[in-house]
Amino acid sequence: MIEKPKRYTVTAALIYANGPIHIGHLAGCYLPADIYVRYLRSAGKDVIFISGTDEHGVPITLKAKNEGIAPQQVVDKYYALIKKSFEEFGISFDIYSRTTDPMHHAESKEWFKKLYDKKIFSEEITEQYYDEKAGQFLADRYIIGTCPNCGFENAYGDQCERCGSTLSPTELINPKSTLSGEKPVLKKTKNWYLPLDKMQADIEKYISSHKEWKSNVAGQCQSWLKQGLQPRAMTRDLDWGVEVPLPETDGKVLYVWFDAPIGYITFTKQLFEKKALLAPDTYKKDDWQKYWKDKDTKLVHFIGKDNIVFHCIIFPAMLMAEGSYILPDNVPANEFMNLEGQKISTSRNWAIWLHEYLQEFPGMQDVLRYTLCANAPETKDSDFTWKDFQLRNNSELADIFGNFVNRVMVLTHKNFAGKVPAASELTETDHQLIKLISDTPRNTATLIEQFKFRDALASVMDLARAGNKYLADTEPWKLIKTNPERVKTILNLSAQIVANLGILCEPFMPFTAAKLNNMLNIKPLSWNSAGSTGLLPAGHQLGSSEILFAQIENTTIENQIKKLEQVRKMHELAQKQVTPLKPEIQFEDFTKLDIRIGTIIQAERIPKTKKLLKLLIDTGLDKRTIVSGIGEHYEPEKIIGKQICLLANLAAREIKGVASQGMILMAEDKDGSLKFILPESLTANGSVIA
Ligand code: MF3
Ligand code: ZN
Repeated sequence: MIEKPKRYTVTAALIYANGPIHIGHLAGCYLPADIYVRYLRSAGKDVIFISGTDEHGVPITLKAKNEGIAPQQVVDKYYALIKKSFEEFGISFDIYSRTTDPMHHAESKEWFKKLYDKKIFSEEITEQYYDEKAGQFLADRYIIGTCPNCGFENAYGDQCERCGSTLSPTELINPKSTLSGEKPVLKKTKNWYLPLDKMQADIEKYISSHKEWKSNVAGQCQSWLKQGLQPRAMTRDLDWGVEVPLPETDGKVLYVWFDAPIGYITFTKQLFEKKALLAPDTYKKDDWQKYWKDKDTKLVHFIGKDNIVFHCIIFPAMLMAEGSYILPDNVPANEFMNLEGQKISTSRNWAIWLHEYLQEFPGMQDVLRYTLCANAPETKDSDFTWKDFQLRNNSELADIFGNFVNRVMVLTHKNFAGKVPAASELTETDHQLIKLISDTPRNTATLIEQFKFRDALASVMDLARAGNKYLADTEPWKLIKTNPERVKTILNLSAQIVANLGILCEPFMPFTAAKLNNMLNIKPLSWNSAGSTGLLPAGHQLGSSEILFAQIENTTIENQIKKLEQVRKMHELAQKQVTPLKPEIQFEDFTKLDIRIGTIIQAERIPKTKKLLKLLIDTGLDKRTIVSGIGEHYEPEKIIGKQICLLANLAAREIKGVASQGMILMAEDKDGSLKFILPESLTANGSVIA
């Protein structure tokens, strides 16, 4: 740990550009990173915040195959979408770049060459799995099988997502190609390995010098070290990625986990190129070096728990091997956030996507930021529920924070023409409050510096709560009639709290902070001025008031829960078997069926049956009775007037004493429920279906 860092390099994981962003990404990585950086900036520290998309690797090519488009199209599409989501949620990167950028290709090739020339890599010819049908080697996620450590059946060739262990394809039990589903064969190929085994002692020393790391991070590191580090291939037999910069390496690219973390460095260089261009007197192109090479720079990587090994062991090993770089000072990885009790899953659409959230809760970014931070998976997995979201908005943000601010604004406008009144004699309660105001910034800062963002946010909320209670206890709206002098002091102190909240909440809720500054009619204040009760001089004219947080109604929340229930149901149905195909028929067989459009004009239950309805159908040819077994799925009175398809030339049969002249055609869903098949728009009765 660096005692007094001179500057900070903060990175947030380069997410694969193969899908949009959901709340789990925000809660696990990007929000804590943004809070940390916003706090540092506010405290006047020298900090850069680096991120971008990881655009190589099998996750990209698999997605391309799925969507039937080229990998480049995949990454172009999702880079734009992801970047926009982060902007909309106020994630304040200094640069958001991408690993397909030519500058990054050059940078990672240079890295590889440098380590190659230093003879760091071992060159090995090994047998690797090969899919003969697809004609390619199966690296990483191209191959799945049973994890040798935990028995999970869908472990990837590079990592088991259940137990987190890193794997190589040849360790998988019952390996299967994800391209063809076939069992792969072994084929010889040459690759370059980073000899982590030989670096074990150095890495152990490095990790044990960081006793302050979070226990979930330290725990994972210890377990890998205990297993003994293995050499790891830094090249792959794939055609999407950064080409291996050696002769005769066609069809080989750098391992995505070799090039991706180098992206942090490339993007820093890009940042300073841009800065030097815009402000040549202040910045030089070369300034990036300070952020990666000076010992008094603190390098912090924000990531999710599935990235720990890469940031705590493999990337530091690369940096050590290169020799001129600093090592990560901290890697405050979070655990995962679940959604309504289930693991978030992109493939099952069990997620709240940021772009969808904003469509339904426009302008409410801070409510999500608040909820995700208050419930962040800092030490163990946490659970997002819509009910909790509503409760936190209504009873914390609206009832406490928003209510307090609103009262201060309204009372000052009403009684003092919106000018902050002067404080006079202070009571014991006032002194206690002043102490809380002055202690809170230090407390919050300490917690943020320890990556305890939940507690840090709670300490900010405690100040808002104390302010709210102060007003509830002193009741200035009543006191104004009898003791206006006292009210001046109360509102002065309260306004100072609002100004302090504007500073303290900025890292967590930047949109709210901006609104507060507007309302207070002040420029943003720095963290270092927080704690003071002189932020707003007496006589300062406040701006106009606005409601910060509206109540969220039950129906809004119920709709969201319903949406998720539908997702769950669709997934369950998708899991069920489809009824197998019947034997082939000829066209003539089909033409024997006379299928028509009709309309239900009467419907009633057949007594003493549960399933049967007696329907009168206008078929366009006649009006006839049909008995249909849909009574468990439809109420008779609700289906009158509906158009249906019927088999019109089916021989009549008697059912429960009623002559049925035809059959209504229904879709039977996988769960057994029956659904009408309707024409797309109103169609004349008697129309033929062919
Ligand atoms: N693409 C990886 C993921 O989404 C993260 C890469 S982080 C970096 O899990 F270190 F490689 F940059
Ligand atoms: Zn496992």
